[in-house]
Amino acid sequence: MHGISDLVLGTMYFGTRLDERASFALLDRFVGAGGTTIDTANCYAFWESEDGHGGQSEAVIGRWLAANPGVREELVIATKVGVEPADDGGLEGLSAEVIERECGRSLDRLGIDRIDVYWAHGEDRATDLEETVTAFGALVKNGRVTRLGVSNHATWRVERGRRLAARLSVEPWTVLQLTTSYVEPRPGADVPGKDHRFGFVSEETRDYVESHPELELWAYSPLIQGAYDRADRPLPQVYEHPGTTARLEALAQVAERHGVAPSQVVLAWMMTSAPQSRPIVGVSSLDQLDSALDAARLELSPEELSGLDAPR
Ligand SMILES: NC(=O)c1ccc[n+]([C@@H]2O[C@H](COP(=O)([O-])OP(=O)(O)OC[C@H]3O[C@@H](n4cnc5c(N)ncnc54)[C@H](OP(=O)(O)O)[C@@H]3O)[C@@H](O)[C@H]2O)c1
Repeated sequence: MHGISDLVLGTMYFGTRLDERASFALLDRFVGAGGTTIDTANCYAFWESEDGHGGQSEAVIGRWLAANPGVREELVIATKVGVEPADDGGLEGLSAEVIERECGRSLDRLGIDRIDVYWAHGEDRATDLEETVTAFGALVKNGRVTRLGVSNHATWRVERGRRLAARLSVEPWTVLQLTTSYVEPRPGADVPGKDHRFGFVSEETRDYVESHPELELWAYSPLIQGAYDRADRPLPQVYEHPGTTARLEALAQVAERHGVAPSQVVLAWMMTSAPQSRPIVGVSSLDQLDSALDAARLELSPEELSGLDAPR
């Protein structure tokens, strides 16, 4: 059984594309409906900001938390470190110094004293993995972070990091954040806007997650910018293949039976089909948020799920 508490509110454009008023309205509606989990990052959204640096999303969430005393205790707040632009033009990476410094800055912007889930946002192969794992572990040991997650990493790096954590007796990564949806790009295709080589959920990821019940999977960009429902947002060309045709037909049938939008079936399917994932929804209006909240309440029958899993 899944529900609204499984849905994650993505806040990538809060404080940049979305002004404070619109961001507050979405946060109010999400939490008012029973939403508990909010995803942000120290780097959101540097590409939309005048100074080329992030922090606007965390700052807006911080001001909203301050305006709503008591609500913080009800929430899981997740934020990330690793891909904020550095002064030298590269990315900040995952050195001990960066992790320690950026955790402090995120706590300050959010106005909280503990981050519930702290993510390694992207790989940093120039830093020794042991240094990264030790630094993340120290944040948990000293009480500034509760749980650790890893995003956009090759599965072997995740496993190596978890082994290192066990050897060093520090908290391991237990949450994975990758992108996936109901339709899948052609294998090997160059997906537009895909920033991370290992950002996609693969067959290997599914096997890894299913073989490790202690791991949770959070799925970013689950609605492919709204492409399931919107004529003005066709699926990128890399999704054009026979597998997509079959999947879109199966989706349309289930959506019609329930009288809902295809994107809502996508979210309900992701929350139910093995391995279950928690979709991180990006929304820019209350209508879009309501659609996602309704999807989290949508129950699919076993027959519908198996039809969607293996469409003919
Ligand atoms: N770990 C990572 O590297 C990573 C990367 C990317 C994102 N993320 C996380 O994932 C979250 C979501 O990412 P995303 O924004 O790329 O997600 P997405 O699901 O691909 O796209 C969200 C966009 O789809 C459109 N949309 C959503 N619901 C809709 C509906 N019911 N009807 C019509 N259009 C709809 C909206 O576009 P318009 O606003 O244009 O209307 C919305 O902004 C982010 O906020 C962030 O927290 C993480």
